[in-house]
Amino acid sequence: MSETLTGKNALVTGATSGIGRATAQVLAGQGAHVVVSGRDTSRGEKAVAEIRAAGGKADFVRADLNGAAGARELARAATRITGGIDILVNNAGIYPFVATGDTSEEVFDEVYDVNVKGPFFLTAELIPAMAAKGAGLVVNIGTVAARKGITGATAYTSSKAAVDQLTRIWAAEYGPSGVRVNAVLPGIIETEGVQTALGDERGPFLAITPAGRVGRPEEIAAAVAYLASDSAAFVNGAFLTVDGGASAL
Ligand SMILES: NC(=O)c1ccc[n+]([C@@H]2O[C@H](COP(=O)([O-])OP(=O)(O)OC[C@H]3O[C@@H](n4cnc5c(N)ncnc54)[C@H](OP(=O)(O)O)[C@@H]3O)[C@@H](O)[C@H]2O)c1
Repeated sequence: MSETLTGKNALVTGATSGIGRATAQVLAGQGAHVVVSGRDTSRGEKAVAEIRAAGGKADFVRADLNGAAGARELARAATRITGGIDILVNNAGIYPFVATGDTSEEVFDEVYDVNVKGPFFLTAELIPAMAAKGAGLVVNIGTVAARKGITGATAYTSSKAAVDQLTRIWAAEYGPSGVRVNAVLPGIIETEGVQTALGDERGPFLAITPAGRVGRPEEIAAAVAYLASDSAAFVNGAFLTVDGGASAL
């Protein structure tokens, strides 16, 4: 793999699992120094060890991103370790499959804390330094489900719709300072989180995915890597769907 990100520092949240771990691996494979974050220290250290074994540079910072305090602490630790974050991937997220009438206030708050407040305050802490430097990239991991009336995960899909709006606002707010803010919108991707949420059932998702298969975490990581590349220098405020055609239906 070409080392196009040598000299860049990246922070990937939710990098102890699934899409985030694959993204951390791909960015490190392209030469970035990657801060791997999540709550689970053993999974985080394993992810770091895999990157280092492949010749990459990575460190783990444990963080609970369920609100502003954890996000701010993570931002400071990642900045301390690397000297400054150039690429932030807001990937950590939870997606309980709960219908509107069954959603408790506790579940609602947890979903919005992790999926909206966490990335909001993490970005708010890191993006001013990118703007001051005149360069930087934020990638928000959303979902194609936030653009459809798919029922059964109301708090989740609405929280990701809020993140879509943050992508637009930040792209407009920080674009003039040389910072690009984009989103990758995955369809169904095979991860530990999906396995926990769905068990072995994939049928309903395959029915709405023209590709006829679930995606792989590496396929989302590749989209993030494109956004981080010089080829995407004019791409700001974009929503890149990687969903096997699901959003075409
Ligand atoms: N897989 C899909 O089909 C799919 C589709 C569309 C969008 N997405 C989005 O893609 C992202 C990753 O999904 P995934 O399937 O890879 O999920 P996953 O396998 O469940 O991994 C989720 C990651 O988020 C971290 N996380 C969860 N709660 C956290 C908290 N309170 N503080 C800090 N980190 C936390 C987890 O780390 P710890 O456990 O170590 O805390 C883990 O690394 C999510 O935003 C999800 O909504 C996924």
